[in-house]
Amino acid sequence: MGDLILRAATDGELSAILEFWQVAAENESRPPDTPEAVEALLSRDPEALILAVDGARIVGSIIAGWDGWRCHLYRLAVAPWRRREGIGGLLIDAAEQRFRSFGGTRVDAMVLDDNPAAHRIWAAHGYRRQSDWSRWVKPLPAPASSSPIL
Ligand SMILES: CC(C)(COP(=O)(O)OP(=O)(O)OC[C@H]1O[C@@H](n2cnc3c(N)ncnc32)[C@H](O)[C@@H]1OP(=O)(O)O)[C@@H](O)C(=O)NCCC(=O)NCCS
Repeated sequence: MGDLILRAATDGELSAILEFWQVAAENESRPPDTPEAVEALLSRDPEALILAVDGARIVGSIIAGWDGWRCHLYRLAVAPWRRREGIGGLLIDAAEQRFRSFGGTRVDAMVLDDNPAAHRIWAAHGYRRQSDWSRWVKPLPAPASSSPIL
């Protein structure tokens, strides 16, 4: 495992995180990643983006999003050259530990149907696909600059 540590991402790592996701993450069927989007995440919840870092290099990520109501996981990714070493599992464990500290009682993960490797890691960690729910989505237009926030 070398000098692997898990820690929260920092503001100075936006470019490195985006570069890491380009090579390591599942990028189908989702809004494009932007520095502004990652910055907004870290500004709202500085501990939400957990990185696995070896030396100066990002080798894994997970977003552990707690909205005060439910626990949501996104962006589980491990560098292609570091897979099957258990890093993905460590990231899931760290995210779950975070949720438990808030009193979270159930966690969900966004998983593409056509990603069997991902199905296996989630199943290995106790996650089960729900057959009676599906996700309904609607892309949002950009806010008008003078719109009041309700
Ligand atoms: C899915 C992913 C995060 C797994 O990360 P990882 O660090 O290799 O996972 P781990 O080493 O912790 O694997 C834990 C267990 O998950 C299962 N597993 C993980 N990857 C697997 C694969 N490619 N094939 C079969 N089983 C797999 C195994 O049971 C494994 O345990 P084992 O190695 O003792 O057999 C990594 O392959 C990845 O980044 N993929 C691209 C991005 C992606 O698809 N992310 C998921 C989005 S939902």
